[in-house]
Amino acid sequence: MRKIVLSLIASATIVFAGNAVNKTVGSTMQLMHSGMNMIAEGFYYNDKEKMQEGIEVVEKANDIFLTVDIKSFLNKKVISSAAVKNITSSIKDSIAKLKQDIDTSNITKAGTDYGKVLDSCIACHIIIRKW
Ligand code: HEC
Repeated sequence: MRKIVLSLIASATIVFAGNAVNKTVGSTMQLMHSGMNMIAEGFYYNDKEKMQEGIEVVEKANDIFLTVDIKSFLNKKVISSAAVKNITSSIKDSIAKLKQDIDTSNITKAGTDYGKVLDSCIACHIIIRKW
């Protein structure tokens, strides 16, 4: 009986821990998503302020990957830490360029920078989702 209770507690703890980390990745990705949408909207409506706001949101969300190992979010080890590090620093570089190009009103170049950020989002999703 004690053994069953203990194993139930153990599995409940695992489920709880799983939910906690999934919540983290889910909310991080929601931030990535809304930040990118804000930047895109800024392009459509010539709204630099909205773009800078979106950049800040994406930057903050991306910084989470510097301190949290994304592999702890996933059930399977489908991605290496080196790949995560590369993709995360690519996002950091491209978003810094994007910020600068918006500041200097180099909007055509800013469009390319935005595409590079998106490429990095897709790069990680390709590995994780196998598509
Ligand atoms: C280092 C890896 C990584 C990077 C980089 C990354 N994602 Fe994700 N993303 C994930 C993981 C892991 C999931 C959860 C598993 C899944 O949905 O396949 C996810 C899921 C999502 C989801 C779905 C969330 C939900 O509610 O189900 C969105 C939206 C998303 N990402 C947007 C982005 C955007 C936008 C970027 C770039 C700015 C980005 N992601 C960059 C790993 C990454």
